[in-house]
Amino acid sequence: MRKFSFLTLFFLSFFLAPTLVFAQDLASEVPIDTLTKYGIYDGDRLPPSFHASRRKLLLDSMQPNSIALFRASEEKNRSNDNNYEYHQDPKFYYLTGCLEPSSALLLSKDGVSLPDGRFVHEILFLQNRNPKQETWTGRRLGQQGARSVLKFDTAMSIDSLPAMLRAVLPKAQFFYYDPHFGTPHEPVLNDTVLLTDVGDRDLIKETYRNLEITTSLTHVLAELREVKTPEELRLMRKAIAISNEAHNAVIHDARPGWFEYQIQAEAEDIFTKSGAEYTAYPCIVGSGPNSTILHYETNRRKTESGDFIEMDMGAEYHGYCADITRSFPISGEFTPEQRAIYSLVLAAQDSGIKACIAGAPFQSAHFAALSVIKNGLLKLGILQDSNQFKRYFMHGTSHYLGLDVHDAGTGGPLAPGNVLTVEPGIYIAAGSPCDPKWWNTGCRIEDDILVTDHGPEILSIHSPRKVDDVEKMMQR
Ligand code: GLY
Ligand code: MN
Ligand code: MN
Repeated sequence: MRKFSFLTLFFLSFFLAPTLVFAQDLASEVPIDTLTKYGIYDGDRLPPSFHASRRKLLLDSMQPNSIALFRASEEKNRSNDNNYEYHQDPKFYYLTGCLEPSSALLLSKDGVSLPDGRFVHEILFLQNRNPKQETWTGRRLGQQGARSVLKFDTAMSIDSLPAMLRAVLPKAQFFYYDPHFGTPHEPVLNDTVLLTDVGDRDLIKETYRNLEITTSLTHVLAELREVKTPEELRLMRKAIAISNEAHNAVIHDARPGWFEYQIQAEAEDIFTKSGAEYTAYPCIVGSGPNSTILHYETNRRKTESGDFIEMDMGAEYHGYCADITRSFPISGEFTPEQRAIYSLVLAAQDSGIKACIAGAPFQSAHFAALSVIKNGLLKLGILQDSNQFKRYFMHGTSHYLGLDVHDAGTGGPLAPGNVLTVEPGIYIAAGSPCDPKWWNTGCRIEDDILVTDHGPEILSIHSPRKVDDVEKMMQR
């Protein structure tokens, strides 16, 4: 049955207003322009209008009498008083542009009445400013910054969120809950039993029997995120260009005797110097026997003459990820076996990329690449039975790419604006049931593909793919 869709002023003033007054931030003591001056929210970011348009689309899709809550990633302790490097939750970033922990976004389909008489559908909650604390841990937006930098009409202290939830949830019928899988107990909302960890779904259910808890917006968000807007594509092209440059530098410079971590270091140096805030995922630099480990991240081995290198490295620039793999012989020239495996993977990739056509099923690239690899492995005598292909090609060929390296998406037919990887590989570990001349060869070639009305565009085209082009880049 449908309940009242919004709060009465009385209810709010009783529960919320005292908190709001108490939770005034200290914005006046720290001028807001320091935030842009210090480069935290630079002009190359997605514009606030982008995030607002995403919230509008999400609100449009919500059911009557529903509330949605999205939370920022929390800081994670590494040990003692030392935290892991902070990274914002991509969903939360997509909807808000906010980079701070201890923040939350509340969306109300039918609106919420505030004590000041306004009636709003979206509220950003974030930490108060605190000059003393900011001296230690960095500047914060505060409510004023949320309005002036992120262009939110309504911002409140995160301290007000529990009271707000206690006020709105008894009146709502549907509660969209983003469970933050894997996030441990979080102290942010510690004066409420709500929303403290993944186990609290049951608690919410018990406390608010009026609520139907749903995760249905996950699908709506996937539909939105799988189609990149021009603003997003601009940043993706930048992340990919930075990553192309890093791959090219390494292919040019690396030589036998380099440690795997030196390859990683040269790439990460270029990422950082180019303004990328993070790697999109830990760099994978596998040499020789390590090249056959799909997600090898240890990167400690010293390369030797004759090694084949498989390096999967991508920058994250202003939230958007690149994901590029190149494989090459450290000595500068492919051996006949390396050339045969590489050429087969490249043919499979070409075939997969050609299949990235608007309207085609998402799996088209995989099946196109797989068929080439199966036939090729039979031809080379590495397999006798093509049904055994998983011994050497044991992963999928494509995933969406965006704010997450394995980005949100529905897996439906390809459409213009989709960005996906095409990344077939062949991994022949020592001891495999084939001629030992093939052993210790792991080869993946991975590019980032934009689906357009005119066919696939290889966004990561600026690193060499053909054998001759790779060898040419290694001539020094
Ligand atoms: N770099 C992870 C992947 O290629 O999926
Ligand atoms: Mn990938
Ligand atoms: Mn990759």
